[in-house]
Amino acid sequence: MNLKGKHFLTLLDFTPEEITGLLDLAAELKSKKKNGISHDDYKGKNIALIFEKTSTRTRCSFEVAAHDLGMHVTYLDPTGSQIGKKESIADTARVLGRLYDGIEYRGFGQSIVEELAKHAGVPVWNGLTNEYHPTQILADMLTIREHFGDLKGRKLVFMGDCRYNMANSLMIGCAKLGLHFVACGPEGYFPVPELIAKCEEIAKETGATLAFETDPMKATENADVIYTDVWVSMGEPMEAWEERIHKMLPYQVNAKLMANAGEKSVFMHCLPAFHDLNTGIGRQMGERFGLEALEVTDEVFESKQSIVFDEAENRMHTIKAVLAATL
Ligand code: CP
Ligand code: NVA
Repeated sequence: MNLKGKHFLTLLDFTPEEITGLLDLAAELKSKKKNGISHDDYKGKNIALIFEKTSTRTRCSFEVAAHDLGMHVTYLDPTGSQIGKKESIADTARVLGRLYDGIEYRGFGQSIVEELAKHAGVPVWNGLTNEYHPTQILADMLTIREHFGDLKGRKLVFMGDCRYNMANSLMIGCAKLGLHFVACGPEGYFPVPELIAKCEEIAKETGATLAFETDPMKATENADVIYTDVWVSMGEPMEAWEERIHKMLPYQVNAKLMANAGEKSVFMHCLPAFHDLNTGIGRQMGERFGLEALEVTDEVFESKQSIVFDEAENRMHTIKAVLAATL
């Protein structure tokens, strides 16, 4: 696997072997970290982290991963730079490309991160766009592989808003690595046909299958992984909540769905999650609509089947693999 100098914008750009190679590298780096074996082979490198949307896991994972590798980072927050307001993406890319060895970008349209990559002259990593969240998928696949010992043939069901970054990227990841992917949500909330067609093509080669289902009980039968995400994503208007809650409530991950999948199944979520009323929005929406939780009940989130914190930790190990492989 030689990914030196390559951008990391969507998993569509990587072969199954390259994705598996990144997972293997992440596992190796994770083991080194756990055993106190230093791996700071990237001293003298500098990377920039652009966040036009907020973040806990992705930002911290890039920072810790870079530090462990011996690199330095600069964090540009959603308000503190000229990007978009006084300077175009193309100009920003050409400036940062002169100063840094690589650039992470979290923001809005995928076309923005593509534009950045086109002009930067150094590797650009997608830290989440409206369409894709590829570093999250590496963490998810590493977590599933650690838990079950394999990936091929596992059934992953995504519940809820299946037309945004998480479902899109999970569908690609499953297609590439030979998992059975089921998107389960209301009509009108499935990935766009062009992306489904691309993934169907990939699936033919890998033995993966794709299915689109509106019935939660049918979808989750015999699932290995039940996955969900927030019902309203970053960048969407607050007014979207009311309509979304009505549409998505039948797709909330609860104990009945987990039982339908069976004891061996696990619960995953990219986080942050609205599983109780201990967050500003969770409380506001919970009180307004008379709910104790939104996309997942607290019972499932806190259950033994929930592996969300293993998953969150793996963000760092997999992002480290992406940095190490592309620099
Ligand atoms: N899962 C994820 O990307 O989390 P953050 O928004 O906290 O980075
Ligand atoms: N769909 C969510 C993912 C957060 C990690 C969002 O874009 O806000």
